[in-house]
Amino acid sequence: MKMDYKDNYFNFTFTADKSTGLYNNIVGDVYHSIYGALEEAEEKFIAPLDFINNYYSKPEIRVLDICYGIGYNTKAFLKKILQIKYKGKVYIDILEYDKNLVTISPFVKDTLFKTYPEISYILSSSFLEQIYENRNNVNLIMSAKNNKKFFEPFYCSLMEKYYYLGYSYNPKTKNNSFLHNIYYHCISSRIKKPFNGLKTNNFIIKPYFLDARRTVKQLSGKYDIIFLDAFTPSKLPTLWTLEFFKELNRLASQNCILVTYSNSSAVRHAMSDAGFSVGKLFDKNKRHCGTIASVNDNIIKNKLNEYDIGLMHTKAGIYYRDNALISTADEIIAQYKKEKLDSSLQSSSQFIKKYKMENNL
Ligand SMILES: C[S@@+](CC[C@H](N)C(=O)[O-])C[C@H]1O[C@@H](n2cnc3c(N)ncnc32)[C@H](O)[C@@H]1O
Repeated sequence: MKMDYKDNYFNFTFTADKSTGLYNNIVGDVYHSIYGALEEAEEKFIAPLDFINNYYSKPEIRVLDICYGIGYNTKAFLKKILQIKYKGKVYIDILEYDKNLVTISPFVKDTLFKTYPEISYILSSSFLEQIYENRNNVNLIMSAKNNKKFFEPFYCSLMEKYYYLGYSYNPKTKNNSFLHNIYYHCISSRIKKPFNGLKTNNFIIKPYFLDARRTVKQLSGKYDIIFLDAFTPSKLPTLWTLEFFKELNRLASQNCILVTYSNSSAVRHAMSDAGFSVGKLFDKNKRHCGTIASVNDNIIKNKLNEYDIGLMHTKAGIYYRDNALISTADEIIAQYKKEKLDSSLQSSSQFIKKYKMENNL
């Protein structure tokens, strides 16, 4: 997908926890919760992993971050890793077709700059080549008058210098000095202690800038953690289909945990038919906040109950299809609408009414 920033396809905004959020003008959907982009990532994607119990003793962890955007799930994950001083190797494969977002992600105001500046360093060193390739857009986005407040001033001035000071003369040296600047400003001189013991070569982070459906077909390794943070299914169903979940099932290690914010019965049904055991996620106020899936049933603590499974077998549980993983969103929606129309399944409201009566609720 061609992403020309001049088309103004996204806008920045501050979310309630002071981290930067985005709105997509074409899809008509938010990238992040207005209640806090970073907080949302920590609550919906990181807390459910139960990292200490499930991963701390492993020598390496492989993560698939689908729909990286400006990277809150990866950032929140790295924060956890640094907080608990995990010593193993961390591999993160990033699936995001918008190169602009990935290449600005280390510089966006995300509230981590003072507390965990290492994260920005790890990400900028991982994306250094791509930042260089995309420098025109990165500079355009970061220097736009209305955008400046959403970036750390230090990075704005660094990017300006990097962009104007003849990078084209010797890109390799310029890249290294760019990184060197970030290292000394953010890490070396500012917070010595927390950085002690961090081995940056323990982090192998690789972005893939294709449609995630194409990338998953090419991947062959097994992942321990999968984040799925696509736009709302009804707005963009491409990454919520049965066929896409089958690919994720193929890539899941035996104890892999897949997390997503969606509570949709159709999404849960598709995951289940793709071979996952599926469960519910709750936030700290005990409200539903997403879905967890694994090929290992023992991993799932809050299993779907009779009510959730019942809903999956109503019209609300009809899921999206994308046989060859190449259909457009409109084609997927048209096929879904037809299936729903032709279906003789009861509606979710009929089911809920009957369920409440039968269970004296
Ligand atoms: C809800 S936002 C994710 C927000 C993100 N996790 C963050 O922390 O900023 C969805 C993201 O998915 C990307 N996306 C949507 N469809 C995609 C596809 N088929 N392949 C790859 N990326 C896709 C969009 O560009 C957008 O950045």
